[in-house]
Amino acid sequence: MEFRGKVVVITGSSKGIGREIALEFSNKGAVVVVNGRNRAEVQKVEDEISNNGGISLGIAADVTKKTEVENLFRSVIDKYGKVDILINNAGGDSGSKTVEDLTEEEWDSVINRNLKSVFLCSKAVIKNFKRQKQGRIINIASQAGRAISILGGPHYAAAKAGVIGFTKHLARELVHYGVTVNSIAPGIVISGEKLKDEWNSHTEEEQNKILEDIPLKRLGTNAEIAKAVLFLASEDSSYIVGACLDVNGGRWML
Ligand SMILES: NC(=O)c1ccc[n+]([C@@H]2O[C@H](COP(=O)([O-])OP(=O)(O)OC[C@H]3O[C@@H](n4cnc5c(N)ncnc54)[C@H](O)[C@@H]3O)[C@@H](O)[C@H]2O)c1
Repeated sequence: MEFRGKVVVITGSSKGIGREIALEFSNKGAVVVVNGRNRAEVQKVEDEISNNGGISLGIAADVTKKTEVENLFRSVIDKYGKVDILINNAGGDSGSKTVEDLTEEEWDSVINRNLKSVFLCSKAVIKNFKRQKQGRIINIASQAGRAISILGGPHYAAAKAGVIGFTKHLARELVHYGVTVNSIAPGIVISGEKLKDEWNSHTEEEQNKILEDIPLKRLGTNAEIAKAVLFLASEDSSYIVGACLDVNGGRWML
């Protein structure tokens, strides 16, 4: 897979799975736009890519906010003249709770971070993709949106199920313009410190029970998710439209 000259925007790529996706694209020659809310964290990944000889532009922006999203994509177009591939990766949960205990604020925050962000960023590239008559959108959903959420709670499961549904709609809308839209549903990945703490908050017995339910008997890695993303972004996936690719060690076979 070769992405030389392709401009790839990866939301939430200042750490975790998004960072790994950014590094993989850069290794394959892409121009990588790194995003996150924290300027210093974005700069770190931008520098890492530049120091390895890659081309990268870091843009700190909150992708739940329409104006910040519009500014982000305007900056990319001003600098490179196009976007070829959009990876809607920003997201995450806020811990599991019952519906009874969940507050309206928690619901809104998780829905906005995981679902509204996908809508806003996708909307921002549609005109360009149609004009270019090519483009790829890959949305990072979760196994939580395919079945139930093990760690994230009902609001996270609802948001990620929404991402999978939105992906199918957008795929139908854009397929006639040479654009494909697909999603990926990762199983549990210890993507960084946050997930490590969340995982370690479970007893060994609880952890073993989760692992027992995964046929591969282990959690996934950032690299395993990134490689699936690169496949869906490549020409090798040209006949895949509106799909949700499960990358979960066999936990759910849907
Ligand atoms: N780690 C897992 O087990 C797992 C499993 C399934 C799905 N996912 C999904 O994969 C994606 C990445 O997860 P991760 O574990 O690497 O998370 P993470 O918390 O390590 O990283 C999330 C990234 O998103 C960014 N981000 C969050 N909200 C943002 C906002 N409003 N605007 C801009 N950037 C924002 C953060 O700055 C960070 O760079 C998420 O969508 C998550 O829901 C993760």
